[in-house]
Amino acid sequence: MPRDQHMTTYLPVAFVGAGPGDPDLLTVKALCALQEADVVIHDRLVSAEILTLVGPQTRLRNAGKEGFGPSVTQADINAMIVEEALTGARVVRLKSGDPTVFGRLDEELDAITEAGLDFTIVPGLTSASAAVAALGQSLTKRGRNTAVRLITGHDMQGYADHDWRALARDGEVAAIYMAKKAARFIQGRLLMHGATPSTPVTIVENASRPEQRIVSATLAILPAILAESGITGPALLMYGLEPRDAVTNALPHVQEMI
Ligand SMILES: C[S@@+](CC[C@H](N)C(=O)[O-])C[C@H]1O[C@@H](n2cnc3c(N)ncnc32)[C@H](O)[C@@H]1O
Repeated sequence: MPRDQHMTTYLPVAFVGAGPGDPDLLTVKALCALQEADVVIHDRLVSAEILTLVGPQTRLRNAGKEGFGPSVTQADINAMIVEEALTGARVVRLKSGDPTVFGRLDEELDAITEAGLDFTIVPGLTSASAAVAALGQSLTKRGRNTAVRLITGHDMQGYADHDWRALARDGEVAAIYMAKKAARFIQGRLLMHGATPSTPVTIVENASRPEQRIVSATLAILPAILAESGITGPALLMYGLEPRDAVTNALPHVQEMI
């Protein structure tokens, strides 16, 4: 396929998924976009190894935001992208995981389109895919769950509400993003709606990165385990899933805390 048909990154702005952290999990298209960009505006969670892959001419700009904290406001990030693109620079807006998953993509797309600019989206591997792979499990399984939820622990209003009754049913699976601070709330809501206290919840910190850690817990003891395990990196709660025995036995960093 001719290159200009294959690559859509020549549009002024490419929203590119950096994946969960391991550079080998970047898509080829994401790598090309990084190498061709004039400027890469990246989030805090994009790994340092991935940032070394940009082209020699590429400028890096950090748009990092810390959890609830407003280090750079969303409005500032929108303005930064538009301002760079209006100079004619090829802009890559690099987001961790997949840009369409809890990535505030729509606000940025609105800003781009209001400025009359074109964009493209280059999907990435969301961290839930890396986390479940680390557990040696699958997100869906015949006879267990025919649906899987990607949910967030908090939204702009605070702790996020969900269909707790549906989630509390046996066999349900959810990947819960941004859930460390919300763990007690999530536990309380699920137990209140009838979830079994022994439901496995596995914490996967730094999925796909060298410092990856897997901590096994159950719903009953989730907040205590989170507090004890000193998780400081980005983490997912894999609700309804436990590490396959082979993973637990093979890897020293799987902590059994049940
Ligand atoms: C703002 S969301 C971005 C999600 C991202 N767009 C994705 O698709 O993975 C940030 C949250 O993603 C999760 N996360 C991102 N990278 C992770 C990783 N390598 N390991 C575990 N969780 C990760 C954490 O729950 C973190 O708080």
